[in-house]
Amino acid sequence: MDLPSTIIPFLRRIDPERAHRLTLLALKMGFGSSDPYADQTSLAVEVAGLSFDNPIGLAAGFDKNAEVISPMLKAGFGFVETGTVTPKPQKGNTKPRVFRLPEDEAIINRLGFNNQGLSAFTKRLQAHKLNTGIVGANIGHNKVSTDPISDYITGAEGVSPYCDYLTINVSSPNTPGLRSLQNKDTLHRLIEAVLKAMKRKPKPIFVKIAPDLTKVERGDIADVAINSGIAGLIVSNTTTKRDAGIENPLKTEMGGLSGRPLLRPSTELLSEMYVRTKGKIALIGVGGITSGSDAYNKICAGASLVQLYTGLVYKGPKLVRRIKDDLATSLKQGGFNCVADAIGSQAK
Ligand SMILES: Cc1cc2nc3c(=O)[nH]c(=O)nc-3n(C[C@H](O)[C@H](O)[C@H](O)COP(=O)(O)O)c2cc1C
Repeated sequence: MDLPSTIIPFLRRIDPERAHRLTLLALKMGFGSSDPYADQTSLAVEVAGLSFDNPIGLAAGFDKNAEVISPMLKAGFGFVETGTVTPKPQKGNTKPRVFRLPEDEAIINRLGFNNQGLSAFTKRLQAHKLNTGIVGANIGHNKVSTDPISDYITGAEGVSPYCDYLTINVSSPNTPGLRSLQNKDTLHRLIEAVLKAMKRKPKPIFVKIAPDLTKVERGDIADVAINSGIAGLIVSNTTTKRDAGIENPLKTEMGGLSGRPLLRPSTELLSEMYVRTKGKIALIGVGGITSGSDAYNKICAGASLVQLYTGLVYKGPKLVRRIKDDLATSLKQGGFNCVADAIGSQAK
């Protein structure tokens, strides 16, 4: 059952966090967009041993508590990444903490991992397991944690029986200290600990990185990624940078910027990480996707899969179908039979 068309403009006018809560409620009540068409075969892709009907995924943060997996898969996504979940529930930062910048098709958020915690999260993941569709679980550490690595171990043990892949989030800008886990030695230790924690139920691991890394950090992360047994990297999380050209005065709000202004830097980083990792691991491209050609460009830059969040806020759920149709056309026009043939074809 689609949402009445008058609701979407209303949701865009009210406080962004309240709009998101109402959207989740509507989705849970069955008011979701559904994509009635089968995906074109050229969109199917195998990554990390998983078979995706299409490479377009829902990025982490939309479904932090694993409440709307089925409606989002029904909307046409090839996979849904839930979370970020932390071991204990936490409230996150004080409100307001999400800001829309419509002229820029961007969002700034400083939510700070507000979520209901691992116990509620895993119960919902477990309940979903019987259904079809690929589901990722994105884990982080509690703000007050004195031992962040043990939080990731707890998270990995909790979610691994019930998800198809796991994402180690070391790149959200709103939890103090979190991004320092991208440091070479710490990242290596963290990945080893998570791999060990999942021994009984191993699942492919992705590490989600920030777009604001120095050249040395980018090189270090590529080295760790190739040598640590992970399936791949997710490139990228939100940025703390505010490049010239962003119009809305809310650009001075603290937090992570997503949406259109992130498209270029995140795609450049993706391309660089593809070259650095020499195609040995899979990359998931995220940041600023609002069209089939954006998705196509990410794939040509080195992504095996892509994800989006902010585009959905500005363009609505029908965007997923449009992106898939346009991506299939772009692949054909580019002379590619399938997604796999296009991956990294323009990486530099
Ligand atoms: C409101 C909001 C909340 C987010 N929460 C998370 C999160 O909990 N974990 C995470 O890894 N990324 C989170 N993200 C980042 C997105 O997953 C994505 O990496 C980023 O927004 C860039 O993609 P986009 O431009 O398509 O939105 C969040 C983004 C937004 C806008």
